[in-house]
Amino acid sequence: MFPNHSFAPLQIRGRRLLPVVQGGMGVGISAHRLAGSVAREGAVGTIASIDLRHHHADLLEECRANPGHDTLANANLTALGREIEAARKLSDGNGMIAVNVMKAVAAHADYVRSACENGADAIVMGAGLPLDLPELTQGCDIALIPILSDARGVALILKKWIKKGRLPDAIVIEHPAHAGGHLGVTSIEDMGNERFEFDRILAELEEVYKTLGITRADVPLIVAGGINSHEAVRKWLQAGASGVQVGTPFAVTEEGDAHPNFKRVLADAKPEDIVEFVSVTGLPARAVKTPWLERYLRNEARVRAKIGSIKVACPTTLECLTACGLRDGIEKFGHFCIDTRLAAALRGDVANGLFFRGRESLPFGNAIRSVRDLLELLLTGVTRPAVACRAAFALT
Ligand SMILES: Cc1cc2nc3c(=O)[nH]c(=O)nc-3n(C[C@H](O)[C@H](O)[C@H](O)COP(=O)(O)O)c2cc1C
Repeated sequence: MFPNHSFAPLQIRGRRLLPVVQGGMGVGISAHRLAGSVAREGAVGTIASIDLRHHHADLLEECRANPGHDTLANANLTALGREIEAARKLSDGNGMIAVNVMKAVAAHADYVRSACENGADAIVMGAGLPLDLPELTQGCDIALIPILSDARGVALILKKWIKKGRLPDAIVIEHPAHAGGHLGVTSIEDMGNERFEFDRILAELEEVYKTLGITRADVPLIVAGGINSHEAVRKWLQAGASGVQVGTPFAVTEEGDAHPNFKRVLADAKPEDIVEFVSVTGLPARAVKTPWLERYLRNEARVRAKIGSIKVACPTTLECLTACGLRDGIEKFGHFCIDTRLAAALRGDVANGLFFRGRESLPFGNAIRSVRDLLELLLTGVTRPAVACRAAFALT
């Protein structure tokens, strides 16, 4: 377990946790090894639920032998169960194992059910409003944590959930101008809007909480996006957040579940390499301009005009998204297979992968360090001398 630090614990559903949460990162970037290692230190470690079969050679083999939708969907549910179990084992009963589920994913209800059945401690839901999460988890003792980006969204969820007799156990507020992956904003132009500033949201929510008769102890707020130093952790915890969620710095830790090439691409990216674009979900996203993304963005306008409104068969048969720009021919959305591209990045295929990343610099520059070192730096400001890399990558 993690040694002393000066911050109050993050308290979720009666558990006292380190106030740094590891954000869920798909496809396969935060699986059991990262989430379990973070939880072992006493923090929330999050498994991203989407398409985890890529970490299991036997399941991939089954999918190759019988590449129909049901085989792939079942393989992913099996993989999620295995990953939760392995993370729990690794955590040694410490911290919390959360499962991140994107509302925009067609199988979101199945992933939620699987998280409940396999004994996850929390479900963290983003990429869409989690209005039905209380019903989906009825009868299951599990923490529920929506991800939102502005005070209006938080107020809406609180009011709707209170009517259902269920409060969120915490809420993540993710800043679209800083975070990695899909961003909670309708257009790229809007992501710098003042309504996403943490200071402003924390102040606006004071009023909302008062009106609703709830306190921060009832629903702690966790801020996410660009938190890359001890000073930033201190600033936001002093400003009224109960925790911070961190993504990119955890993705590049030794224990991160992606191929070493993935970590190199993220760690070596310069500010001018990091771009925003419209994903196939219709949401803006942030990633490193690697060769595939550079090519795609060069041709984006032409592709959209030429074939943007033509429906095509899902290239993987997974049909991963409820609405997909490529499959459904939605002109203003992106037009590529996100599952194929993210899986290539996980395997370290720099030429063909899509490498999601947050906008800010990393706490250790371009060095790959351990989860313990990262937590220690964020919580105490102390940087330990580096020791030889301990972890190895295997897609099995
Ligand atoms: C590689 C990568 C993949 C991500 N995938 C997901 C995801 O599947 N679901 C999700 O809710 N957030 C996802 N995120 C967002 C992170 O959980 C986190 O909230 C965000 O990255 C925080 O910003 P930071 O990277 O600046 O710390 C992803 C981020 C990265 C960098």
